[in-house]
Amino acid sequence: METVIVSESPQQLISKLIFNTVVPRPIAWITTVSERGVVNLAPFSFFNAITTKPPLLFVSVGKRKDGSLKDTARNILETKEFVVNVVSKKFLEKMHLSGKDFPPDVSEAEELNVELEPSELVKPPRVKGVPAALECVLKEHLRLGATPMDVFVGEVVAVHYRPELLQTQSGIVGRLGGKRYCCVREEIDLSDLT
Ligand SMILES: Cc1cc2nc3c(=O)[nH]c(=O)nc-3n(C[C@H](O)[C@H](O)[C@H](O)COP(=O)(O)O)c2cc1C
Repeated sequence: METVIVSESPQQLISKLIFNTVVPRPIAWITTVSERGVVNLAPFSFFNAITTKPPLLFVSVGKRKDGSLKDTARNILETKEFVVNVVSKKFLEKMHLSGKDFPPDVSEAEELNVELEPSELVKPPRVKGVPAALECVLKEHLRLGATPMDVFVGEVVAVHYRPELLQTQSGIVGRLGGKRYCCVREEIDLSDLT
């Protein structure tokens, strides 16, 4: 077992440790729309649920290397709406490729041939064929960390889901360290344990 004192260690190592120990991370494949109406699609794994009543979740968006806002962050700040698409294995490669730096006026969905369909209550569309999509409105915006990260707390206002998702989540993709991903391969059911 190794031990690292954060205040005495290089940032590169700290980042590596967080990326490889907080795993697997769920992936939010987020659709947003710019003020000019361009649909943006990008993945984020610094993402999780916070509460269920009301249903709140957060996503943490860093800055680009030049310090500018990523399109997702800019669009959420401009329009206050986003959709979290849940990623299954079938979408893995497209999801990964959508994390590349596309110019703001280019829609990753169009470039990567990802089919979209309208949402119910918010303007950003959802990805057609995903196991679930959560329509969100911005509830809080925090700036945390050195860059700083833009942390968006969204309130889920509508959920689209395949009913079988309530039984098993196999096939849903999570992120490991680096460019590695995982799916649920083994389920351990403790429902008989009292
Ligand atoms: C699986 C995966 C997870 C990612 N998670 C994050 C994240 O949590 N925060 C972040 O700022 N960038 C994350 N990225 C990088 C963004 O997706 C990438 O910067 C993307 O270009 C942002 O696109 P946008 O400018 O269209 O918003 C992730 C990339 C991948 C492939």
